[in-house]
Amino acid sequence: MQRQSLEPALESLERSNLRRHRHTVERFPEQASHAEVIVEGRRLVDFSSNDYLGLAAHPALAAAMAGCASRCGSGSGASHLISGHGLEHAALEEELAAFTGRERALAFSTGYMANLGVMSALADRGEAVLLDRLSHASLIDGGLLSGARLRRYPHCDAAAARRMLAESPRPPAVLATDGVFSMDGDIAPLAELARAARAHRAWLIVDDAHGIGVVGPNGRGVLESAGLTADDVPVLVGTLGKAFGSFGAFVAGSAALIELLVHKARSYIYTTALPQPVAAAAREALRTAQRESWRRERALELTRRFRAAAGQAGVPLAESATPIQPVPIGSAGAALLAQQALREAGFWVVAIRAPTVPVGRERLRVTLTAAHNEDQVDALVEALSRVCLDSLECRPQ
Ligand SMILES: Cc1ncc(COP(=O)(O)O)c(C=O)c1O
Repeated sequence: MQRQSLEPALESLERSNLRRHRHTVERFPEQASHAEVIVEGRRLVDFSSNDYLGLAAHPALAAAMAGCASRCGSGSGASHLISGHGLEHAALEEELAAFTGRERALAFSTGYMANLGVMSALADRGEAVLLDRLSHASLIDGGLLSGARLRRYPHCDAAAARRMLAESPRPPAVLATDGVFSMDGDIAPLAELARAARAHRAWLIVDDAHGIGVVGPNGRGVLESAGLTADDVPVLVGTLGKAFGSFGAFVAGSAALIELLVHKARSYIYTTALPQPVAAAAREALRTAQRESWRRERALELTRRFRAAAGQAGVPLAESATPIQPVPIGSAGAALLAQQALREAGFWVVAIRAPTVPVGRERLRVTLTAAHNEDQVDALVEALSRVCLDSLECRPQ
């Protein structure tokens, strides 16, 4: 971009209602429920976080982090392959492997970096990579980084994915999908995708950033709920900064896969290792999530309550049984107005606009967590129905 184009580019974003503004959000203020935040001086109920289990404010995680910081300090000091790999990382990886039922796991600093690393390690230049059209940006960027030829199949259309795999002139290297789609809350047709990938000998990568900890009878994610094994889905990506209330991410798979990533995933190799106190908090989150399984049930129960009440109030909803509940609004301008109206009513619900979602499919992304209570959910639905009445583009149905 040329230097003189900077201001016009920002003005153009502003004109099309696509300019982003960061707001300072004070989390977990004293004498408030854990679902409350203070946004620029105003106390609001937060329906926008990915803290599905309400673990981010859990005292056990904070204690694990503080205890580890007093023993190990705040920084890792180096990358994993130099001298930054500590006991907490090793233990976290073993526990993640056990939790996901895989031979090994590799801890990355973020989910974005995990996807960059795994995609670029498994897809070679010129090979074909197939992605769901609504895949997360990090899967797309990982595919681009690999130099592979990226193709996208229609959202959740496993038959189209199979057809595209069959039509590929060279055997495709990778088929990748989100488990739970981050902006839609729906779940990929994993059994069909696993069959298609196996038939065409492609790697299947499932990024379960929003499913792990929440979905499945034991919270082990979308693969558990679909009854799929490591054989069906050889590469599983999970995050630690969402349901697990801490930070970081992991790839879980066979011992050979992890060994390859240690050698080839540049976003693992060429970066400072995650601070050990963060790994200690993530370990505690894994234990707490399993011990306090009511958190998962609570988030799902409140999700069902939200859907039932919203349905009755005529608030339009997308098909989603997960705590991610998008309310379609239609345009960036209308979504921003709806966000503002909800803010005035006491709720922090962020408008999701292009390019995060396709143009014309702007929405409010409501997320339910174990930290909410029934009154907060009911009050949100009431406010949403008023907002929808006021918006030409979001009429109650
Ligand atoms: C599907 C998906 N994958 C990966 C990521 C990236 O994870 P992280 O925030 O740990 O970088 C996100 C969200 O941020 C996501 O929604």
